[in-house]
Amino acid sequence: MKNILITGASRGIGESIAYHFADKGFNVVGTARSEFKFKKNNFKGTLIPIRLDVTDRDSIKEAFNNLKERDLLPNILVNNAGITADQLFLRMKDEDWDNVIDINLTGTFNITKMFVKQMVKSRYGKIINISSVSGLMGNAGQVNYSSSKAALSGFTKSLAKEVGSRNITVNSIAPGFIDTDMTEYLDDKARLDLESQIPLRRIGNTKDISELVFFLASDEAAYITGQTISVDGGLFMH
Ligand SMILES: NC(=O)c1ccc[n+]([C@@H]2O[C@H](COP(=O)([O-])OP(=O)(O)OC[C@H]3O[C@@H](n4cnc5c(N)ncnc54)[C@H](OP(=O)(O)O)[C@@H]3O)[C@@H](O)[C@H]2O)c1
Repeated sequence: MKNILITGASRGIGESIAYHFADKGFNVVGTARSEFKFKKNNFKGTLIPIRLDVTDRDSIKEAFNNLKERDLLPNILVNNAGITADQLFLRMKDEDWDNVIDINLTGTFNITKMFVKQMVKSRYGKIINISSVSGLMGNAGQVNYSSSKAALSGFTKSLAKEVGSRNITVNSIAPGFIDTDMTEYLDDKARLDLESQIPLRRIGNTKDISELVFFLASDEAAYITGQTISVDGGLFMH
């Protein structure tokens, strides 16, 4: 039986990934900072919501012990939890820099550090980091966010080199604009402007991302590692 852990699974992309894997019969553990329940539950697999802040190392250790006892340690890990705190650089507050780096980058380090050990032991694992188009092409107002996401690319490549010999793949997905709470601030005009810049002429949906996560976690993707793959309707072409 395959177990998956997804951070930031209470809504948006993480929630969609959770349902995708539960539908295929996986044991899915999803985390968020707040107490939450999965809204849907009629799946072949099980959905287990846990409260876990990716910046809290003591809680991560506790969660590790708890999941170990329940035989739920993941062989697939999706580092999806992320926040934005947008502001032009000259006005950006120190705490907006610190919070974004702590959650998006250091959070990925904290979670991966704890859960990769079991993968190394069992010589099997899939780690998928959710990055962003902003980390690849930059975005005015997002110096903090794009720095955190660009760093995930280096994290992904270096870790992939270290753990490849243990049959563990490490990849990143760089979504473009996806319809979730994170992009709710866009008004109709901003959406239309944006869509006109996207070759496929639409904002993405969460399923566009969960489909690729599922593929990267499958044995069909066994020979792909260290990559950052864009799912952005062609917004940024490498
Ligand atoms: N939507 C987009 O257009 C887009 C584009 C590119 C990349 N992304 C990336 O995709 C990922 C998911 O984005 P989304 O749009 O689905 O965002 P979202 O709807 O805002 O959901 C974010 C999720 O992360 C959780 N979270 C935030 N901080 C956390 C922490 N410290 N510890 C644990 N969980 C935490 C949130 O729950 P709580 O608030 O309860 O903790 C929530 O479940 C993020 O990494 C984001 O940067 C999104």
